[in-house]
Amino acid sequence: MTNFTEITNPDAQMSLEKLENLLRQAVEAREYAYAPYSGYKVGAALLTTDGRIYQGCNIENSSYTPSNCAERTAIFKAVSEGDLNFEAIAVVTVDGGAPCGVCRQVMREFAPNLTIIIGDLEGNYQVFNLPDLLPRSFGPENLGINLGDA
Ligand code: THU
Repeated sequence: MTNFTEITNPDAQMSLEKLENLLRQAVEAREYAYAPYSGYKVGAALLTTDGRIYQGCNIENSSYTPSNCAERTAIFKAVSEGDLNFEAIAVVTVDGGAPCGVCRQVMREFAPNLTIIIGDLEGNYQVFNLPDLLPRSFGPENLGINLGDA
């Protein structure tokens, strides 16, 4: 896949080059998806504010519940290495499926305004900001916590 086609782009601030590179990295990560049960492979590429990229894939389990989504794999890899500031995440599936609710909430924890690029294998993609996908979200402020103090 070399050509990308943007479907919608509400107010993306990223350069096309950066965005398409992230999509390519998500396509690459998808190759490593361990999805023998659903057969639905997902790849993600997470861009930190200082320019690092963490790739992730979904990792399933015969006991189903322990399965992990591609987005959370990428986010947890970053956090486990001390990177907590994220600019964007690209997610690629065969049909351009959107991130699940659990992953949206994990994104919300670290990057309330994260740019989310959702792509398919034909190169079509859409760009969103997290509040578009998770309106009226629950966050640390609901618990009286200011993470700036953490
Ligand atoms: N999946 C993801 O990796 N990300 C999502 O946001 C949606 C679902 C995975 C989980 C499971 O391995 C497969 O897709 C089918 O649900």
